Amino acid sequence: MNGFAFYDLITHCTQKSDSGETILSASKTKPADNVRAIRWEASTLTLLDQRRLPGEVIYRDYVDAVDIATAIHDMVVRGAPAIGITAAYGVVLAARKAYTKDPQAWQTLIQPDLDSLASSRPTAVNLHWALERMQSLFAGISGDPEPVLLQAAKDIHAEDVAANQAMGEVGAGIIGQCRAVLTHCNTGSLATGGYGTALGVIRSAYRRGNLQMVYVDETRPWLQGTRLTTWELMQDNIPVTLLADCAANYLMSRGEIEWVIVGADRIAANGDVANKIGTYGLAVAARHHSIRVMVVAPVSTFDLGIADGSHIPIEDRGPYEILQCGGHLIAPGGVNTWNPVFDVTPAGLIDVIVSEKGAIQAPDRQKIKALLV
Ligand code: MRU
Repeated sequence: MNGFAFYDLITHCTQKSDSGETILSASKTKPADNVRAIRWEASTLTLLDQRRLPGEVIYRDYVDAVDIATAIHDMVVRGAPAIGITAAYGVVLAARKAYTKDPQAWQTLIQPDLDSLASSRPTAVNLHWALERMQSLFAGISGDPEPVLLQAAKDIHAEDVAANQAMGEVGAGIIGQCRAVLTHCNTGSLATGGYGTALGVIRSAYRRGNLQMVYVDETRPWLQGTRLTTWELMQDNIPVTLLADCAANYLMSRGEIEWVIVGADRIAANGDVANKIGTYGLAVAARHHSIRVMVVAPVSTFDLGIADGSHIPIEDRGPYEILQCGGHLIAPGGVNTWNPVFDVTPAGLIDVIVSEKGAIQAPDRQKIKALLV
């Protein structure tokens, strides 16, 4: 299965766009796991603009929490753990602004910015987990809050990378020798602090020499698979084959893959998993073809306050994403649309959930509680 060598068309130089943004071209030969979507440098949050990949690698600087909330909403940064880390740095900047305005009242003044961050996207629970962890420090802070909060945000960021590396080892151990896997959406360094969840397992398995091919579906309508996962795997020289979403069932029927490996945006107490729209269909098809399904997610993705998946809020991103393709309208004007961007896969269709605390085979309420509580 040969792919169009789009990547070879990317120019290999540094440029400035008309609006003055720095555009760094992609390189074909970077060392493995070189991609980072979130950086804190010189008192500023820098995000890799994922809306522009794979054609342009553009970093944007942020010093205001409301702009960060907009960046999360608009998908400059996306992926559950990455959203949580970004929000944590957003709290640092919100606290700086509030403290500069009034050092005595910063804990009150910060509230509107916290509300903006909290409402930026609804499904990934990592966002709320990170905000709660940051807010839990407020009561113990006297004086300038920035040093304490910045250290906490950096800790959240570093812990996420460490969790991903740990999950990579656990997951790679479970899949063992494996000819090929299918993954959905983007769960890699772009979606996390680094290394990735499902893509971290894939990275670890490939490094062990246990995996020969990664199949990636398009992940319509935002095309995280087409645009991001292919790019990230090519950066790290991991063999990847892109397929249309609707080709996944046929791939399974031909016996081409042994595992479907995905991430999660929220896992309910009973093991139901909210993840990128299309995950549920892949899990149904995988069960039909006796292909195993692995969900890879850090403990910050579990929401034990939600009994089952039916209570998970599912984001609807409106009509535009499905009315257009590549910026061109492709549907007749006035057509009704429905664009839920996540779905819920019942725990019964999942063979194993991998977290940094260990793996849960055939997940259920009791096993999840035993591992996490
Ligand atoms: O809408 P997105 O791109 O933020 O959705 C991302 C996903 O659904 C990922 O699969 C999920 O966040 C797990 S990523 C580590």
